[in-house]
Amino acid sequence: MSKQPLVIGHRGAAGDAPENTLKSFALAFEQGAEGIELDVHLTKDGEIVVCHDGTLDRTTNGSGLICEKNWDEIKELDAGSWFSEDFIGERVPLLREVFELVPRGFLINVEVKHAYEGRMEKALLAFLRESGRMEDVVISSFDHKVIKRIKLAEPEVKVGLLYAANLFDHAAYAQQLGVEVHSLHPQHHHFEKEDGVSAAEAGLATYPWTVNVVRDFQKMIDAGVSGIITDFPGKLNALLKGE
Ligand code: G3P
Ligand code: MG
Repeated sequence: MSKQPLVIGHRGAAGDAPENTLKSFALAFEQGAEGIELDVHLTKDGEIVVCHDGTLDRTTNGSGLICEKNWDEIKELDAGSWFSEDFIGERVPLLREVFELVPRGFLINVEVKHAYEGRMEKALLAFLRESGRMEDVVISSFDHKVIKRIKLAEPEVKVGLLYAANLFDHAAYAQQLGVEVHSLHPQHHHFEKEDGVSAAEAGLATYPWTVNVVRDFQKMIDAGVSGIITDFPGKLNALLKGE
């Protein structure tokens, strides 16, 4: 029997808590996640913060670009009340704070949203080297040039290719990058069993996103993926346990 996929909480447990907050990540683990996916941006003063959008408007009571604010300003914002009043007081976390919450040995998929002229990869690699958690981390991005630069700068770090395109041959694409790719992060609608088989044959891990309903969970399980990125880790966990 093939190994069961890892349960990976998308932005934590984004279906049940405000995405990319410490509460959301804690809830993902309470629901049985074995890893999390999160998104990062860089503040004006060079801090790595966990937020999906490059702007503060959608998920906080602030506004404007993250890269134009210092951390001192961002840390005062409320990042929970947009979701529900139960989460008033949640903040935009630093990447460092999320690492402190995640137990060692659990997967942390850091998605780089923007290169910030190369400053993000420098800050991120400096942080990872200092963290001593390189083993637990996979860095992914829709920007595959950033991924290549990161892998060239730090061969120890695991990197993954994130994409929404319906690629003709997923594994062959990864092999074109010219550096060792750890994982494919395909949009799940564009990932079939044959893609899972060829990725596994090429030694690539597979982490499709964002899979939220039982029919799609089952399709990814049948494709033999390594992990499933979901807004509902509890629901996926229950299915895998046969509950
Ligand atoms: O990393 C998987 C997924 O998060 C990519 O899309 O927009 O949810 O960050 P998005
Ligand atoms: Mg993401």
